[in-house]
Amino acid sequence: MGTSPVGQPQMQQAADVLIPLGTKNIDLVFKVSGRDGRLYQAFLGAKLSNVEDISKLRDAGHIAYATYGTDNLFEPAIRMTHNDGNPSLELKYVSHQVEKVDGDVTITHIKLKDPVYPVEVTLHFKTFTDENVIEQWVEIMHQESKPVTIFNYASSMLHFDANKYWLTQFHGDWAEEMRMQESELTSGIKIIDTKLGSRAHMYQTPVFILSLNGKSGENNGDVIAGTLGWSGNFQFLFEIDEKNSLRVITGINPFASEYSLQSGKSFVTPSMIFTFSNQGKGLASRNLHHWALKYGVMDASKPRYTLLNNWETTGFNFDEKKLADLIDDTKKIGLDLFLLDDGWFANKYPRNNDRAGLGDWQENAVKLPDGIGSLVKEAEIKGVKFGIWIEPEMVNPKSELYEKYPDWILKLPNRPENYYRNQLVLDLSNPQVQEFVYNVVDGLLTKYPGIAFFKWDCNRMMTNAYSVYLNDKQSHLYIEYVKSLYSVLEKLRQKYPHVPMMLCSGGGGRVDYGALHYFTEFWASDNTDPLERIYIQWGYSYFFPSISVCNHVTSWGKQSLKFRTDVAMMGKMGYDIQVKGFTENELKFSQDAIANYKRLSDIIWRGDLYRLISPYEENRAVLMYVNEAKSKAVLFVYTLNARYGETFNRVILQGLDPAKTYKIQEINVLPDARRPNMESGRSYTGDYLMKVGLNIGSATPLTSTVVEISE
Ligand code: DGJ
Repeated sequence: MGTSPVGQPQMQQAADVLIPLGTKNIDLVFKVSGRDGRLYQAFLGAKLSNVEDISKLRDAGHIAYATYGTDNLFEPAIRMTHNDGNPSLELKYVSHQVEKVDGDVTITHIKLKDPVYPVEVTLHFKTFTDENVIEQWVEIMHQESKPVTIFNYASSMLHFDANKYWLTQFHGDWAEEMRMQESELTSGIKIIDTKLGSRAHMYQTPVFILSLNGKSGENNGDVIAGTLGWSGNFQFLFEIDEKNSLRVITGINPFASEYSLQSGKSFVTPSMIFTFSNQGKGLASRNLHHWALKYGVMDASKPRYTLLNNWETTGFNFDEKKLADLIDDTKKIGLDLFLLDDGWFANKYPRNNDRAGLGDWQENAVKLPDGIGSLVKEAEIKGVKFGIWIEPEMVNPKSELYEKYPDWILKLPNRPENYYRNQLVLDLSNPQVQEFVYNVVDGLLTKYPGIAFFKWDCNRMMTNAYSVYLNDKQSHLYIEYVKSLYSVLEKLRQKYPHVPMMLCSGGGGRVDYGALHYFTEFWASDNTDPLERIYIQWGYSYFFPSISVCNHVTSWGKQSLKFRTDVAMMGKMGYDIQVKGFTENELKFSQDAIANYKRLSDIIWRGDLYRLISPYEENRAVLMYVNEAKSKAVLFVYTLNARYGETFNRVILQGLDPAKTYKIQEINVLPDARRPNMESGRSYTGDYLMKVGLNIGSATPLTSTVVEISE
C-alpha cells in the first residue's frame, strides 16, 4: 500500500513481468503489465544483447492474444459467447511455466484467464534454439456449466511496428501451384485463406513471408516466414491499424466453423511455425529447412527411395505384363522402387477411368488376376521395392461402397450431389469411416507386408458438404475432418512408424507441416513440364526442404531429357516416363544421372539452400546446396529463355568456406555432348567463387548445367 498525495491509502501498482522467449538469433518478449494484468507482446526481432532493456519501453506493447467484446477495436485472436449469452472475453495473465525439453527445445506455457468467467487460455511457444524457429499453438478450455461457442481461435497473433510491410504469398490451382506474388500491405485487412476443406490448399498455400520496412532480398532485410501446420481451412489475416501497426493472426479459418466447446474439454489449435531473419529470405528458408529436417518432416534423417511411377505412361490402362515390364525398367535404369498408381482396384465397377470404382479397394481381377502379391513378388525378384497408390478418403457414386454406406458420404440433404472428378468425399468425422480409411492401408499391409511405399491422394475439395454423423454440429465439419484425418494417420503411424508415404492431392493441393508429420514427402504438382516446374519448386523451396518435394522426370514439356532430369534432381527425384522409349544415349545418361543423384542426394536433401538467381527476376534460375561441413556443394544452373544477343553475368556462389579450395566438376553431361563447361575440371578458392564466381550456363533457352563442387 502506498499513500496518495491527499493522504488516502492507495493500491500500489504491481511491477511489470517480462517473459522472454528466445532462440540463438531471435527474441520474442512478452510483458505482463502491472497496470492491468494483461499480457502484451513487447518485442519480436533480432536477438537483443540485453533482453531486460525491453522493460524500459514506455508502453506495454500490443495485446498478445486480443479478445473480442471488451475494449479491443480490431480483429480478435479469440471470440466466444458464454453459455449465459455474454459475448465478451477478457484475458488476464495467471502464470507461466518454462519447460526445458533438451538443449535445443524449450516450451513456454503462458496461462491466461477471464477474471469473471471460468475460461482459461494457454499460449504455448516451442522455441528451437539452433534452428531459430518458433512454433506456437493455443489451448482453450472452460468450466462453465454448459458449452460455450468459440467463433475465433487463432494459433498465433503477432504484432509489428514497421514503416512498411511487404507480403509475399503463394497461390495457384491445379498444375499452377506456388505462384509467388509480392505486394505492399495497406491499411485495413488483407486475408489469405481457404474454404476448400479437403484438398484445402489448391488455390492458396498456408505459407507467407512478411518483409518489414522495405522489400527484402535473399540476403538482406527483416523477414518473418511462417506456415500453419493444418491440412484444412486456414486463415492468415493481416491488419494495419490507424497507427500503422500490423497484427498478423493465423490459424484455422473461422469461416463457417463456430465451435461448441464442452465444459472441461480443451480446444487445441494447430501450430503456427515461423522464423525471423534479419538477413533476408534465404536465411529464413534455411532456418525453416533446418527445423523441418529435424522436427517437421517424417523420418527426414532416413534414406528415401527413388522411384518409377506408371501414371503418366499407362494411366488406367495396364495389365500384369505391362507392370512387369515397368518393374524391369525400374531396375534397368537404377531406381529403387516401382510405384503402381491409380486403376488397380474395384470389380463390380472397375476402375478403368475416374468415373468408377473409388472406394472399392480390392484388386481388379481382370487387370491383376494374380493380385498385388504377385507384383510385390515380381519386384522382389527383380531387386526393387513395390509401392502403391490409394485415395482412401474418397468415393465414386459408381461404387459398391457408395451403394452400401450412403450415410458415410458428405452430401447435402435436399440438394443434388455435387461432383468433382466424378467423386465425393467420405465423412471422416464418423469413426466408422475412420476405421474404413485406416483399414485401406492396414488391410493392404497386412495382406502384402512387402508393400514398401504409399502414395496417398486426395482429388477433391468439399462442396455441398453435410455430415449425417455430426448432426446438429455441422459447423464442426471442417475442423473434425482434419482432426479425424490426423487420428487415422496417428493410428497408422503407431503400427507402421516408418513406411514412407507420399502426400498427394491432385498435385500439390494439400501441403503443410501438419500432414508432413505423417508423410515423408509430397507430390508438388501434376505439372512436370520442367520450365513450369522451376517456378513451382522455387516456390516450395522457401518453406519446405528439397527432401520433401517429389519431382519426376516425365514427358511433359518439349525440353531435352537432360533439362527435365536436371530440374527433377533438385528435390526428391523420381521418374514417370516410358524408359523403353529412350535411345541408348538417353538410357546411359539417365543411369549416370541417377547414380550421380544417389551420390549427391544427401547434399541436395539436407544441405543449405542458396537461391542465387531467381527466375522471377532473370531469364535464369540458379541455386545451390552446400553441406554442413562446406566441403561439398551442388550447383544447378537453368537458362529459361534468352533474348537475341543476351549474355548472362557470372554466377556468384554463396555458402562456401572462403579459405577452402574447391574443384568444379560438371555432371549429368550427355554422352554425345561436345564438351563440358569450360569451368569443369578447374579449382578455385571459396573466396574466389563467392567474389568472382563462375562463368557457367549457356545462352541457349531451356538448357541446364549441374556442377559438383568438392573441397
Ligand atoms: C492425381 C495425382 O496428382 C496424380 O499423380 C495421379 O496419382 C492421379 N491423381 C491418379 O488419379
